[in-house]
Parts: sequence; structure tokens; C-alpha cells
Amino acid sequence: MNQRFTLHFSHLPVVQRLLYTGAIGVLSFGYLFAMIYIFESHHNRDGKPGLSVQDIVIAYSGSKTGTKLEAALKGPMSGMLPAEENVRIIAWLHEGAKQAAYDGDLKNIFNDRCITCHNSRNPHLPSLESYDGIKKMAAEDTGADIFTLVRVSHIHLFGLTFIFFVVSMVFIHAYLRHEWLKITLIVIPFVSIIFDILSWYLTKVYQPFAWVVVGSGALMGLSFAAQVLISLYQMWFYKLPDEVQQQFYCAMPQRNPR
Ligand code: HEC
Repeated sequence: MNQRFTLHFSHLPVVQRLLYTGAIGVLSFGYLFAMIYIFESHHNRDGKPGLSVQDIVIAYSGSKTGTKLEAALKGPMSGMLPAEENVRIIAWLHEGAKQAAYDGDLKNIFNDRCITCHNSRNPHLPSLESYDGIKKMAAEDTGADIFTLVRVSHIHLFGLTFIFFVVSMVFIHAYLRHEWLKITLIVIPFVSIIFDILSWYLTKVYQPFAWVVVGSGALMGLSFAAQVLISLYQMWFYKLPDEVQQQFYCAMPQRNPR
């Protein structure tokens, strides 16, 4: 009966419940936007609609079947040149994007069709004016580089820990008949964060770890949703069963039952 040492929501003053509601309400909004962001930044990677495990594999370990240049030529840039020239560039890519062939006649295609936008005066787009610039876009896609992963890792480790700490400090005032369920809901996110982030790196080495990325992300989301929904419900709508109410007062003899 450990729960009796934690006050239930119904024992907290309205102002404290408002504070909790505001905090977890805004965090839920943040979570929603994070989901939209994940979807937007990954869903198109494998060329099929929807977000799949294959998209995650490509994000972290790269696409073994194509380069950025090929992806662009088959996707958003396909309208920039006649199909016949498009096919020639892709064939050239598949032959290893050799400089000799570029110096031959492919250079003219890039100069005619691409460099009005992709030039060194435009800092937002990769320059395709020289072989070197094109070569960078023609390099095999190896997924997110380690430095990016390290940067995103530390942001996630700090940020998510704060988020789940806040949510669980609120949720701790909920009453669940089974103490183990409450413990599980609180522990899952912290374990998942570690598994999630380690799997980003492991996916680079062994692609099936993308499933761990997806699984731990799903567990985190489910636990977040459960904690927020149970907290909000019990804060404003739930009445503790009488026998449980009793336990709370037995544990706190100094409080006067109304
Ligand atoms: C009218 C301007 C314009 C022309 C012409 C153009 N592009 Fe682009 N290109 C863009 C813009 C804008 C983006 C970024 C937005 C996007 O991906 O849709 C882009 C993105 C790309 C990317 C992806 C860059 C990255 O960092 O992932 C590649 C590769 C590319 N273009 C290649 C080409 C090639 C090859 C040609 C010539 C056949 C070409 N583009 C012609 C405007 C242009």
C-alpha cells in the first residue's frame, strides 16, 4: 500500500490542479507537433506514402539503392529537364558518376537545366556548377552522420527527461488499483529513451534495429498518453472509491475528513 503516501489529485487545491493541467496540456501539444515533425521529415524517404520502418532505416543508415541526386531527379527535380536527359544522368550515376563522362556532354545538361538555381551564389541549394559539387550529391547516401546523431541525442536526452519528469510528477498523484501498473507507466519512458537513442546508432550497423527505434517511440507515446489522460480525468472528474479514501486519511491522521 505505497500509494497512501502520495496525495490523490482530489486532495490537491484547485490552483495546483490548474498548474498541472496547464503544464501537461501544453506538453501534449508539444508532443503532437513532435509527431507531425517526425512524419514530415521521414515519411517520403522510401518513396512510398506513409511512415514505415523502411523510412527509419533510410534516415539512419542511408539508402543503399540511390543517391540524393537520383532521388531528386526521380522526385522533385524530374520536371526540370526532358525525360531523355534525366535517364542519361541516372545511367551515368549507376556507372559510378565518372568525371570523363561528365566532361564529355553531361556538363552541358547540368549547365542548361540546373545551374540557374543550383549555383554558388545561392547558399540554400547545393551548387551543381562543378564536378565536385555534383559529386557530393552523387555520393552514396549513408544516412544521418554521427555528429548530427550526437547533437540530436543530447537534445533528446535532456528534453525528454524533463518532459517525462514533469508528466510523471503530476501522474504520481493518480490512484491506480494496481501499483505495478503505475510503476510501469512511469518507468517505461525512461527505459525507452535510452533504447531509442542507442538504436539510432545501432541501425547504422544493423538495420533491424529500426524496429527498436519504432517500438520504443511507440511505448513512449503510449505511456505519455496514458499518464496525461488518467491525470486529467482523475484531476477533474474522478471520485475516489470510499474504501480508498479511508486509506488516505488513515495515512494522514492530521488531516480532518470533511
Ligand atoms: C527552378 C529552380 C531549380 C532548378 C532549375 C533545379 N532545381 Fe534542384 N532544387 C531546387 C530547389 C528549390 C530545391 C530544394 C527544394 C526541394 O527539394 O524541392 C532543389 C533541390 C535539389 C536537390 C536536393 C538537394 C538536397 O540537399 O537534398 C537536388 C539533388 C537537385 N535539386 C538537383 C537538381 C538538378 C540535377 C537539376 C537540373 C536537372 C535541378 N536540381 C534543377 C530548385 C531548382
